[in-house]
Amino acid sequence: MQTKPGQPHSPDTAARRREGVRLIAPAAERNLGPILEVVALHAPIQGLALELASGTGQHAAAICRAHPGLSWQPTDLDDTTFESIAAWGVHLGTANLRPAALLDAGRPGWGITRAPVDLVLAVNLLHLITEAEARAALHGMAEVLAPGGVALIYGPFLRADGHASAGDAAFDAHLRAQGHGAGYKPEALIRDMWQEAGLTVTRHEMPASNLMFAGRRAVPAA
Ligand SMILES: C[S@@+](CC[C@H](N)C(=O)[O-])C[C@H]1O[C@@H](n2cnc3c(N)ncnc32)[C@H](O)[C@@H]1O
Repeated sequence: MQTKPGQPHSPDTAARRREGVRLIAPAAERNLGPILEVVALHAPIQGLALELASGTGQHAAAICRAHPGLSWQPTDLDDTTFESIAAWGVHLGTANLRPAALLDAGRPGWGITRAPVDLVLAVNLLHLITEAEARAALHGMAEVLAPGGVALIYGPFLRADGHASAGDAAFDAHLRAQGHGAGYKPEALIRDMWQEAGLTVTRHEMPASNLMFAGRRAVPAA
């Protein structure tokens, strides 16, 4: 993955370092605190949580420690970080981190196979995949939710009036130039798809011009 030029909260897996088995992504170190704050606003006290694109496992382990009532299922398309995810759990002494599992969040239909969960989280994924994959990820995040459950997504997005900063414009251009269909997605895509799926959407401004969206599925009236 590439660094967002001029932005301190970049998704920079290329800059990962290692402490034993544990991988450390500088971006995950920097955005962990703000993400923990928003997760705390929305997370249930207990239940099953599913994380997409878990990467190093830094977020998974830290959220597990902060929310011991959640049973946390980390996943990723790439299994080469699964040892690191487990090692982060041991390092932080969590008892609620499950072994990581393979999951392609861009494959249509994954949501129904994983449902129901009480929380689903994706950090810094959407801009790295195609629009079709992003739509499948967003659809799956809505579909996987139990009544009362919440979907949380964090990353850089295109605003209604364009990029939030020159660094975002440059990083988006860099992603698009690679020719794999990656690039920033409009923030309206999240709101539109989740509202259409019946979720109530809340938007949070995050540091370094990132955004975090929460989409909650209502509990049906008795
Ligand atoms: C920039 S890293 C973010 C990792 C972690 N969420 C974080 O914020 O540190 C992007 C991650 O997305 C994963 N990924 C890419 N495409 C994916 C897909 N289609 N489904 C699931 N994970 C995917 C990569 O393997 C990588 O771990």
